[in-house]
Amino acid sequence: MFAVHLVLSFFSKLQEDPTKKVDRFMYAMHLHDDQLSDISARFQAEMKKGLSGESNAAAAVKMLPTHVHSTPDGSEKGQFLALDLGGSKFKVLQVKVREGTGVRGGGVEMEEKTYPIPEELLTGSGKELFDHVSESLNDFLHEKKISVEKKHPLAFTFSFPCEQSALNQGLLLNWSKNFRARGVQGKDVVQALRGAVNRTGGMDVEVLAMVNDTVATMMTCGFDDRYCEVGLIVGSGTNACYMEELHHIDLVEGDEGRMCVNTEWGAFGDDGALNDYITEFDREVDAASNNPGKQILEKMVSGMYLGELVRLVVLKMAKLGLLFEGQVSDALRTKGKITTAHVAAMEEYKNGLKNTRNILVDLDLSPTPDDCVAVQRVSTIVSFRSSNLVAAGLAAILTQIRQNRHLRTLRITVGVDGTVYKTHPRYANRLHKVVQLLIPERRQQQRSRSGHSSRTKLASQRRQVDETLSPLRLSGEQLLLVKKRMRGALEAGLKSKGPSAVKMLPSYVYQTPDGTEHGKYLALGLGGTNFRALLVDLKKGLLQNSRLNHKIYPTPVEIMQGSGEELFDHIAQCVGDFLDYMGMKSARLPAGLTFSFPCEQAGIDTGTLVSWTKGFKATDCEGHDVVGMLREAIKRRNEFDLDIVSVVNDAVGTMMSCAYEDPQCEIGLIAGTGTNQDDGAEREKKEEHAGIPKMCINTEWGGLGDDGSLDDIITHYDSEVDQNSLNPGKQRFEKLISGMYLGEVVRQVLLDLTRGGLLFRGQVTEALKTTGIFHTKYLSQIESDRLALLQVRSVLQQLGLDSTCDDSIIVKEVCGAVSHRAAQLSGAGVAAVVDKIRENRGLDHLDITVGVDGSLYKLHPHFSGVLQQTVNMLAPQCTVSLLPSEGGSGTGAALTAAVARKKLEK
Ligand code: BG6
Ligand code: GLC
Ligand code: GLC
Repeated sequence: MFAVHLVLSFFSKLQEDPTKKVDRFMYAMHLHDDQLSDISARFQAEMKKGLSGESNAAAAVKMLPTHVHSTPDGSEKGQFLALDLGGSKFKVLQVKVREGTGVRGGGVEMEEKTYPIPEELLTGSGKELFDHVSESLNDFLHEKKISVEKKHPLAFTFSFPCEQSALNQGLLLNWSKNFRARGVQGKDVVQALRGAVNRTGGMDVEVLAMVNDTVATMMTCGFDDRYCEVGLIVGSGTNACYMEELHHIDLVEGDEGRMCVNTEWGAFGDDGALNDYITEFDREVDAASNNPGKQILEKMVSGMYLGELVRLVVLKMAKLGLLFEGQVSDALRTKGKITTAHVAAMEEYKNGLKNTRNILVDLDLSPTPDDCVAVQRVSTIVSFRSSNLVAAGLAAILTQIRQNRHLRTLRITVGVDGTVYKTHPRYANRLHKVVQLLIPERRQQQRSRSGHSSRTKLASQRRQVDETLSPLRLSGEQLLLVKKRMRGALEAGLKSKGPSAVKMLPSYVYQTPDGTEHGKYLALGLGGTNFRALLVDLKKGLLQNSRLNHKIYPTPVEIMQGSGEELFDHIAQCVGDFLDYMGMKSARLPAGLTFSFPCEQAGIDTGTLVSWTKGFKATDCEGHDVVGMLREAIKRRNEFDLDIVSVVNDAVGTMMSCAYEDPQCEIGLIAGTGTNQDDGAEREKKEEHAGIPKMCINTEWGGLGDDGSLDDIITHYDSEVDQNSLNPGKQRFEKLISGMYLGEVVRQVLLDLTRGGLLFRGQVTEALKTTGIFHTKYLSQIESDRLALLQVRSVLQQLGLDSTCDDSIIVKEVCGAVSHRAAQLSGAGVAAVVDKIRENRGLDHLDITVGVDGSLYKLHPHFSGVLQQTVNMLAPQCTVSLLPSEGGSGTGAALTAAVARKKLEK
């Protein structure tokens, strides 16, 4: 029954809802409420920075005074011309307000015409651009038969940041969106327009005002609604303005009354304030834009970029084989092929999926129905993030206004314009909802309704914990992908001459022990945090009959990360001590060294360290023969002599020691401080070993993903851990599964939950900030089923973490999610190896034993079980027995030495 259940749940996972994988892939774009509140608070701080005279110069958000002191009062009348430049359309307009009616009386007539702007004018000279504007105006007057004799007042909507010292003057600070005409930056735009009008001739216009589009939007809306005091644009660009108290605007004199401030919020984040929220896709969009490093918020939010974000995510997913069965088309690779209009179409209520399909087919892709659902989801996540960010900004502005006026509640209208807001089917609705949610006084009101709100709080806490953990939970489909990628990497490592993520290092071990090995051997091991010395007495036959003597020496961090000479002197000293202890200093013993780092070997008794991994960083070792370095240290010590016969990796040592007991053992696996696997049955060799029937290969599988192949399952917690490690960017697989890093991943998740107020009462303590507090040992204890919650609390207390019972439950859950993932990923790796061996041998079924060692495997209550289950699921054509190593890899080293010696003696 149990097995059936497992199989079923596995298959149901395989057919999982395609939106799930997208959600996991795009986790970083999902902003939860606390993050939005945080962003909103940061933005409000930025606004203050921009308003203050002291900090304005350094502020990213410019908070530009507009010299607009009031919104319309409805008595305005007469005829105006207007130009609207900077949105997706350039328009010329005429506005007539009939005498005696006023705007609110409804007597407004408006005529407008859109004029295309040729591409080359956007990037040509400013003079040409303004000449085009003026010629269009001239054309408009003629077409609409507007008298050119009369003098016309004109309002100029110019949708770029301008520094204004009066309403009819403004220096362009910088272009944004797709404009970059030369020679305008730093110049007065009104002057530029006047110059062009003069050049064109035949018109009499007086430029009365120049306003940003946000201001124009607020004013337009203000005609009808006296509560409108905020203008918002979510179009090709994004921005907002609002009525601020004059005494807060340091850049303008005067204390009485208000002035509209153009926030230019698109630049929020240009100083790094949004770095925690920026994804690789945002970086790509930014890098490919006209203005890299500028308008960071705008690039996450506005119409000019949304389509690109969707395209980049879809492209990456396709490349990773998560969409279109890995198919990628040239169109999909081309910048600009997915537009904001597409995004809106994909999310349409009824036809969304059909539209998505058509859009994808137009991009020369052949999507399955699941692909369409997935791509639609991508689009939803991108546009949802946009509306969330706009909501966060708007909430900050509304809070600022409310605080300015010392009001508990505020009645206000926001005038909104822009293609994204107007044409996207769900945008307005979502924006509205999230703003409601973010405005603090509303939250307080909700909280005050105690009974009800504490229930919703618990439910939302649960949801947030689940959401936090969800990217750590891998589906069967993802595990299969990992298996596939591991398989690919194993093959690639064997074939490649140059560097590859998974190195596949030959070990020069050609056979496993046959039980005839005999004699006394010294086994030495360096690899985890300890150095081990061990005397193995092989008396023909089983290992259990041998007398084992050993001693463990901790390796201090300053030695691990000091100089190479110090490290090997330390080892020689430990060996000397051990020989003293055994009373064998004068015997020149044969010795085998287990060295648990990647070594390029040219024989069984030499090994050049490729690179340190785990916690080691000793200088002058990489690129050197470790056996040679040990021999030299022994010589320097001049106390004893050793005959170092072999050097092996711990994975190889483990295989050897297990094979002594079980001849079917042809694989060694380490799940400890580091992780590695060796494939004893490897038959395909690197080219230089052609002709040899088989040789054990040290896969160094911990390097899987160093080429980016695991990016879709790597979470931002993992990235943090990687960044804080000694070898950023390296051993990505190892960092997901080995004891040295799991505790750190747990700590990152706990930090996040705490910052979100979901744990430890929101208090980030020193203990929690301490790198490395969660050793494998503690993870194992916390996850032990035998421990009651109280005991979990006491373990946490030992670590300096004061927890409530609720906290303990969450911490245990986090540990569980992280170690479960580790065991599953290890299982996916083993499945790849055993299937490869099976296929190499042309078998339908393979029985094989894997010798396993390592603290995680041995101490953790669930690791081995989950590992076994995963292997069974992912490699159904193999029967894999996991055999915990008894003698340890040290014994294996001794056995390797014995086997090597036998060979020599022959
Ligand atoms: C228009 C306004 O409707 O919206 C413009 O008239 C504004 O002033 C524009 O710039 C912003 O939206 P988009 O999508 O055209 O950039
Ligand atoms: C850009 C401009 C800004 C404008 C916005 C919306 O962000 O810098 O001035 O308001 O786009 O069009
Ligand atoms: C690291 C080392 C590897 C070793 C493993 C387990 O991955 O690079 O050589 O086998 O840790 O200790």
